[in-house]
Amino acid sequence: MTRHDDTLPKETFGRLRRHMSPALALSGKFAGQGEVEVSGEGCEVVLSDGRRALDFGSYAVTLLGHRYPAVVDAVRGQLEAMPVSTRTLSSPLAAAAAEEVVTYLDSPLRRVYFGTNGADAVEVAVKLARLVTGRSTVVAVRGAYHGKTMGALALTSHERFRTGLEPLLGGVQHVDPADGDAVRRAAAAGDLAAVVFEPVQGENGVVPLDTEVLRRWSDDAKRAGAFVIADEIQVGLRRAGERSLSLAAGLPVDAVLLGKPLGGGVVPVSAAVCTQELYQPLIEDPFRHTATFGGQPLCMAAVPAALRAVEAHADNGARVSKALETLLKDLRARFPDVLTAVRGRGLIWGVDFATPEYAGETVVGLAQRGLLVSPCLSRPGTLRLLPPLIATEADVRRAVLLLADTVEAARRTIGGRRPGEVA
Ligand SMILES: Cc1ncc(COP(=O)(O)O)c(C=O)c1O
Repeated sequence: MTRHDDTLPKETFGRLRRHMSPALALSGKFAGQGEVEVSGEGCEVVLSDGRRALDFGSYAVTLLGHRYPAVVDAVRGQLEAMPVSTRTLSSPLAAAAAEEVVTYLDSPLRRVYFGTNGADAVEVAVKLARLVTGRSTVVAVRGAYHGKTMGALALTSHERFRTGLEPLLGGVQHVDPADGDAVRRAAAAGDLAAVVFEPVQGENGVVPLDTEVLRRWSDDAKRAGAFVIADEIQVGLRRAGERSLSLAAGLPVDAVLLGKPLGGGVVPVSAAVCTQELYQPLIEDPFRHTATFGGQPLCMAAVPAALRAVEAHADNGARVSKALETLLKDLRARFPDVLTAVRGRGLIWGVDFATPEYAGETVVGLAQRGLLVSPCLSRPGTLRLLPPLIATEADVRRAVLLLADTVEAARRTIGGRRPGEVA
């Protein structure tokens, strides 16, 4: 849709208010200054009044930017041929995508389940671990985010999403990320099915977990006959530099979960890439866990094109990452009263603000100035910068200049208010 007239935003906000959530209308209206998104290309999106914004957000989906040409071509080709599968006949697309993912990770993980959302991959991995072990305890990490379906939510730790829904899936224990003995203790009861972790907790504010703690947990889980599941839905596929952080660190994982950019920023795809042992229930009965739209040809067509593109731009991503790190650290030194920390790896950076109010003012101010970033829903004082692999150093400089202007403006606005006063 490329219509640039003023009826579209009005209709959109009205419909959102009437038929979806008024809060969605309000936050989108603020961010777009009364306009809506209409198209995207590369690192930029176009708003309904023709303004362009640099997209360093999109919740980590647009690792290749918007409408990456080779992915669009692959999906368009499949749209013309056969977008949906009969699920009775075999689809060559899913088979080829599975082989491509396995080859890409180049590891003992040789079996693939395809889903649509990240939570699908989490659900299936936990189900498989329970089925194979016949046990029910799952260790997850405090601060973890694994999605919001009822099963995945049991592993997600933030109260904001859990409140009012308990009891969730039983047997999940959340452990302290620094507690190297946690899995050994959890395993002592003899019921441990799996340990699940994000090597870098994205939604929790871009918090890298200690690799040596993860190694101890993994070794202890293996010793106890339990599975090790690395959720790299947000940080895998070169977002944080490596194809898979856990495999690159030599952790003995039984599954790596992928999602978000796996569909090349064009279609929704997720995957649980598993060892033969973990996948065994699906070898015996592939209908034990299915979803109508999992592995559909339209989405599968994107996967090989996306993985090849990610590799083609990996070196550029590493260069851009270094530039961004330097600029963000300089910015933090310039505004120590507002920016309390910056952390990250590769192309995922978290910026901590002195208060959630500062972060809120900044995310809206940035959108208004032409830079989109992603808030952390479970850590409202932190913003995530998620540049695409195709970003240039000039894009990154432009983004950090906009951030500097916005922080300065937020400091004038908020710094001028009395404590507790609201705008
Ligand atoms: C690490 C991680 N796991 C799982 C999910 C859930 O993915 P989805 O929202 O696609 O279900 C997310 C989403 O942000 C995530 O960051």
